[in-house]
Amino acid sequence: MIIRRPSDVPSSEITPESVYFNRRQFIAAAGFGAAGLTAAPSALRALDASQEQEIPERFQNMRSEQNEQLNSYRDVTTYNNFYEFGTDKGDPAKNSGEFRPRPWTVSVTGEVNKPGDYQLEDFLRPAAMEDRVYRLRCVEAWSMVIPWRGIPLYEIINRVEPTGNAKFVEFRTVVRPSEMTGQRYSILQWPYVEGLRMDEAMHPLTLMVTGVYGMDLPNQNGAPLRLIVPWKYGFKGVKSIVSMRFVEEMPLNTWQQENSFEYGFYANVNPQVDHPRWSQARERRLPSLFANRPTQMFNSYGDQVAHLYAGMDLERWK
Ligand code: MTE
Repeated sequence: MIIRRPSDVPSSEITPESVYFNRRQFIAAAGFGAAGLTAAPSALRALDASQEQEIPERFQNMRSEQNEQLNSYRDVTTYNNFYEFGTDKGDPAKNSGEFRPRPWTVSVTGEVNKPGDYQLEDFLRPAAMEDRVYRLRCVEAWSMVIPWRGIPLYEIINRVEPTGNAKFVEFRTVVRPSEMTGQRYSILQWPYVEGLRMDEAMHPLTLMVTGVYGMDLPNQNGAPLRLIVPWKYGFKGVKSIVSMRFVEEMPLNTWQQENSFEYGFYANVNPQVDHPRWSQARERRLPSLFANRPTQMFNSYGDQVAHLYAGMDLERWK
């Protein structure tokens, strides 16, 4: 992964203009005011500027299981990794305006009784959406606390009925170089690929995400459908998913394909195993510049997931 130290991140990466549209949706949905949207432009600007860092009222008392405060909508939507739109943290917000997340089809193939091309709406129905606060811990040693909206992945998997041969599920991101500027260059091999072992995919913590802050995912966060596996590094959270393939063999994920020395399949958050180029012992909670928080094993979900890896060498299987 292309990494820069916090001190190297220029403030120009924060690009308020480019998230203007999303912020308008946010302000409306958050109840800051339908009134604001019909007000004179200058009033709108003032409202916009004063509220942009805030957390909508409904979410203000929401905390992570570790009692951590949420990151602002602005943090969540302007500091992203989505190389399909560029490698700088501000690029996805800046460059994803042309991306069209509707209509959307997800193809389900491989070892399942009900393969097919599912329209997004069919794919999600009749599951009930839930808001869940999970910390996103990036392998680059920063983290954010985010209220995701989604449905447990197992609900989707149960409906497509994997066969007994399905040992892993592989996810792929859409390939649309006409809308995704980064895909015009070989920054990575496209499409972005990720995978989970079946028991990880079926774990109740694993979420198929459709929104943040109770609203549809903005393009830069992986609209209309992305994964969040809260005990793993953020790169497992494959975005804009168009394919789920159930397989017997362990899939080769994108970062392993790029650099198998630095990245493994499991990618469990582990403070004891350093990344070859930097330590994982601490993390930087955005927007802070200081990596002063001790990293938690399995991102603090060890009591719920450690048994999945009993007897495995977690260093070898990083
Ligand atoms: N998915 C795709 N398709 N492309 C990417 O570059 N980056 C990953 C993951 N999913 C990535 C991706 C990484 S490294 C992280 S940390 C998270 O997305 C970031 O999610 P966020 O931008 O919503 O915070």
